[in-house]
Amino acid sequence: MTETHSSLNFDTGWQYAPAPESTEHIQIDKQYKLFINGEFSAPQQGKYFTTSNPATEEKLSRIAQAGKSDVNRAVRAARNAYEQTWSKMPSKERAKYIFRIARAIQERAREFSVIETLDGGKPIRESRDIDIPLAAAHFFYYAGWADKLKYAFPGAQVKPLGVAGQIIPWNFPLLMAAWKIAPALACGNTVVIKPAETTSLSALKLAELFQDIDLPPGVVNIVTGDSSTGAALVEHPDVDKIAFTGSTSVGKQIMHSIAGSHKKYSLELGGKAANIVFADAPIDQAVEGIVNAIFFNQGHVCCAGSRLLVQESVAEELCFKLRERMQTLILGDPLDKNTDIGAINSKVQLDKIQSYINIGIDEGGQIYQSSAKLPNKGYWCPPTIFTGMAQSNRLVQEEIFGPVLAIQSFRTASEAIDKANNTAYGLSGGVWTDKGSKIFKVTSALRAGVIWANTFNKFDPASPFGGYKESGMGREGGIQGLSTYLSMELSNDA
Ligand code: NAI
Ligand code: MG
Repeated sequence: MTETHSSLNFDTGWQYAPAPESTEHIQIDKQYKLFINGEFSAPQQGKYFTTSNPATEEKLSRIAQAGKSDVNRAVRAARNAYEQTWSKMPSKERAKYIFRIARAIQERAREFSVIETLDGGKPIRESRDIDIPLAAAHFFYYAGWADKLKYAFPGAQVKPLGVAGQIIPWNFPLLMAAWKIAPALACGNTVVIKPAETTSLSALKLAELFQDIDLPPGVVNIVTGDSSTGAALVEHPDVDKIAFTGSTSVGKQIMHSIAGSHKKYSLELGGKAANIVFADAPIDQAVEGIVNAIFFNQGHVCCAGSRLLVQESVAEELCFKLRERMQTLILGDPLDKNTDIGAINSKVQLDKIQSYINIGIDEGGQIYQSSAKLPNKGYWCPPTIFTGMAQSNRLVQEEIFGPVLAIQSFRTASEAIDKANNTAYGLSGGVWTDKGSKIFKVTSALRAGVIWANTFNKFDPASPFGGYKESGMGREGGIQGLSTYLSMELSNDA
């Protein structure tokens, strides 16, 4: 390492003053029922579970646990709404409802952001600037397609599938709900959706919003609960399509469960993305990109850049700059507008991350963690990197879903491509170089659904998103995201 890279002194005592977002005027009820046929309705077995704030361990509310009979009621409501209202409505009228949802999310953006941060632990800056605006953007985008489906698929006659069962994870709760609900409704389907157990609140707020905008009853039903609720939805014979985002192991169970049935499916599963940094890359920008790819949102991102492949000649310089940058990341109160790193979503997930950190140490990796002070309460993990990792190490192969980066070096582009492709996953990737030709060469050789060049984790509703290999099937977003909610026949007049 050359001595020209100045080493900043981070112990000067300079700190930002606290800038917490206010939680006044945020209404969270003590208890939430299920949302079925346009109304809040108690679970038939009367069971509830607690949702808490992972940054403080404080209880926020009690959430209904939907049983089989509740899922039956929700599917029945969705079927009735499909047959009697939604599929019969002129498509330009459907579009108006979806536009209304988008506008109402924008109007209540602050409330949604604060609730997302309280319930899930992510920094307010992220829920405010990414989750909620992108959720609104997805509804706007798909509202625009609702009355133009025949132009999306020229020469084909398209029809909705019927009732869509949707199961979503806890890392982007409202955004994942938007990714699922918006294209389903635009195509004329009705929905039963199940949020993740630790982050149901924003979906329940969305239910209130559906009431406010007079969405016809039964068009979207929300059943909260655990894996048994998800399984009941997957197994229900009157569901025509399953859309799932979550772990690869549950994705495989879902495929087994629906094999041989008429159900269509789309699965968005795990990832182990490599960020590939060439020696000719703008190193400072790459450092920012790496931080964004793995440390923001605590690494709770399926397309996170959880591996770094760096060209040998710049490896030492880049790792030095990365460590310096890690020291400046602000970890703490997720409601504070200066916070970079929030809380880990749950105790279960924190335990999983810590077990992987121990595995990395046992595998002989050199660990470096930022020295950020961890709060006494809540679930926290400092930004962590491992160097000296081998391709066969579990830290390089397995999804951790936490702020843990495995670093390897490479000499040639083909070595980088081989290493990047050598996992069971293929969701995303990143390439950093000054040379356009290298971008084309590398991106076309990577077996991954989404690849960013000289940036990372950028999303747009018009871009399709999805995986190769064990990262899933089907695409969400864009025109491709419409096709998984439609049946298509070539028309005679084509
Ligand atoms: P998970 O896959 O168990 O949960 C995702 C959703 O599926 C939740 O709503 C859950 O209630 C539901 N579910 C669970 N079992 C089900 C079943 N048998 N049938 C139907 N629905 C079911 O993920 P979990 O346990 O929250 O996290 C475990 C690991 O999964 C994480 O550490 C991470 O590696 C990975 N994960 C990946 C995500 C992604 O976006 N690719 C999102 C969340 C987790
Ligand atoms: Mg919670």
